[in-house]
Amino acid sequence: MGVERTFVAIKPDGVQRGLVGEILSRFERKGFKLVGLKEIIPTRQLAEEHYGVHRERPFFEGLVNFITSGPVVAMVWEGDGVVLSARKLIGSTKPLEAEPGTIRGDLAVNIGRNVIHGSDGLETAEFEIGLWFESSELNDWTPSDQSWRIEN
Ligand code: RTP
Ligand code: MG
Repeated sequence: MGVERTFVAIKPDGVQRGLVGEILSRFERKGFKLVGLKEIIPTRQLAEEHYGVHRERPFFEGLVNFITSGPVVAMVWEGDGVVLSARKLIGSTKPLEAEPGTIRGDLAVNIGRNVIHGSDGLETAEFEIGLWFESSELNDWTPSDQSWRIEN
């Protein structure tokens, strides 16, 4: 407990394009621990709360329409430095500016269809995890190969 956690969601385009396994495997191979996972079609209320900071932006309604248009794969990943590291694995918001090797850099071309969301800071992560998950849906567990990843 007390270890850093972040909220990551594969957006409807990523699910529709069959990229769920590809994306999950990148976080697994990096060495982060999956502590929560579910597929959900977000309600408008959930989507509007999630993207509340963008409420006044011109793209807000389109963004909410898109994120509620189909299943999203919501997850919580745990590990030291996971919030910033997940953002690096994901890459820049604009996929054409995202580096090759990142999820958006490898798998997307358009800002409005950029495949994946990741919390942008520790406080945002805490807020978003609480918004998308009940605490009973999150698991504390120790991977059997943890000592091969983390020096104790
Ligand atoms: P996200 O929250 O989805 O992980 O993306 P982000 O932090 O990289 O980018 P953010 O600034 O939070 O924007 C949220 C999402 O809104 C869409 N967007 N469209 N048309 C536009 O100018 C525009 N700007 C942002 C993107 O889909 C972005 O992921
Ligand atoms: Mg954001």
